[in-house]
Amino acid sequence: MSLQLDINPLREGLTRERVVDPCIFVVFGGTGDLAHKKLLPALYHLSRADLLPRGFAIVGYASEHLNDDQYKEGVRQAISSAGSFLPTTGKVWDDFAAHIYYVSRSDDDGTGLQHLKARLAELDPRIGAEGNYLYYLAIPPSAFAQTAQELGKMGLAADESGKGWRRLVIEKPFGTDLQSARDLNNILLRSFTEDQIYRIDHYLGKETVQNILVFRFANKFIEPLLNSRYVDSVQITVAESIGIESRGAFYDRTGALRDIVQNHVLQILSLVCMEAPVSLDADAVRDEKMKVFAALRRMEPQQVDEFVVRGQYSGGSLLGETVSAYRSEQDVDPQSTTETFVAAKFFVDNWRWAGVPFYVRTGKRLAKRVSEIGIQLKSVPRVLFGKTHREEITPNVIALNIQPDEGISTLFQAKVPGLDYRIRPVKMNFLYEQAFGESAPDAYERLLMDAMLGDAGLFSRADALEATWEVVQPILDGWRMKQTPVYPYLPGSWGPRESAELIGREGRAWRRL
Ligand code: BG6
Repeated sequence: MSLQLDINPLREGLTRERVVDPCIFVVFGGTGDLAHKKLLPALYHLSRADLLPRGFAIVGYASEHLNDDQYKEGVRQAISSAGSFLPTTGKVWDDFAAHIYYVSRSDDDGTGLQHLKARLAELDPRIGAEGNYLYYLAIPPSAFAQTAQELGKMGLAADESGKGWRRLVIEKPFGTDLQSARDLNNILLRSFTEDQIYRIDHYLGKETVQNILVFRFANKFIEPLLNSRYVDSVQITVAESIGIESRGAFYDRTGALRDIVQNHVLQILSLVCMEAPVSLDADAVRDEKMKVFAALRRMEPQQVDEFVVRGQYSGGSLLGETVSAYRSEQDVDPQSTTETFVAAKFFVDNWRWAGVPFYVRTGKRLAKRVSEIGIQLKSVPRVLFGKTHREEITPNVIALNIQPDEGISTLFQAKVPGLDYRIRPVKMNFLYEQAFGESAPDAYERLLMDAMLGDAGLFSRADALEATWEVVQPILDGWRMKQTPVYPYLPGSWGPRESAELIGREGRAWRRL
């Protein structure tokens, strides 16, 4: 993780503490959705902010037969429809476009990678890349293993001269269960070393997610409270109002547990729970996160209904629009039992957190898009302020809002003006945008920059990734064994009734967001 030293006037929030080496950025799946909507716009913004080296090339690699100019035009249109704040004509654009190239995978004769190798060999001396190549796998997960193996076989996984670096950035989902995640790790590690592999979780690139560590470890008043002596419970919500959009085929095989809980939610949980690392070096941070994953309780598959609820959205209306039921979405099995909602209770069985429940929930087609962490402290002794008024005291909550209104707020008790001790909770609010006067860079800008800099702190290590699958696997097994029902919920709601019951059993309630 970089510290902020030299702030680029064009883009506060991204720093120039270290400079990216000249390199070639190869986008596997260069014409796909992820490349078009996220990666190429992020690279464009980095380039405009003068954060990319002069010796830099982007090579799109995909099956379509296109020449460089046709590819550039596709990229231009994609960036413009992705709503970039930068123009896609004129000098600014032309300067960026001059760095873009394309190689076709040409399936017909299976020689795609040879063409890529030849193109890299030709571009490298021209831009002075000195063997530094980053391969970004923005391709279907089923092709990750084979692509990595082929890169190895073609001699592209390591620079023969030993001078340049080679890095592999791999998207989620990383495996579909514990075994497949282990298998994938093993295969990748046959061609690449662990420190060449960057497993991405875009939540870690979000400014407010990174701020969890700053909030905890750069302030004195918060950290002493974060343990089982003071914390009653923690809630983590990752709610979306959108449905599955056009991803029916992918989503129906995946579901909310694999799509969001195994990665984004558990990563957030680890940042809330981890001890202070000895430094901000990638491995120091990842070692501490790994300890949290190791302490996360693995439930027995038989206990799944006690700890987890799954749901699926039915048809109805959302924000005045009629929306279809999940089972009627395109490319979804009409009998599907895939969950679009999960609520679960986790425990971190270590000294600091023993006995504190972590309630998590995520879902599609919920009341609104909001991701937040709510840390509820224990109640004060209710002995003061008179019988009626002490009942009015509600526990303090520290809320870290990840999106959309990035910030931190706390709820505390205040005296209502008047002659007696009437008490009411009031809110103290910090909003990023107000405080810093600008919105945060997109998560991908930060993550692509870090990958090019060789800083793996915000990427998952193999051991952590497998540990998160170990937590999730018994849930998948339990659902299969017990044929757990998938409870329906209405679009625009907060999930099925059973989710409120899960947390209600212990006298708690989900936060109103
Ligand atoms: C992705 C999931 O990882 O995260 C999507 O695959 C989800 O299903 C998305 O919509 C949410 O990301 P964000 O940044 O919009 O909260």
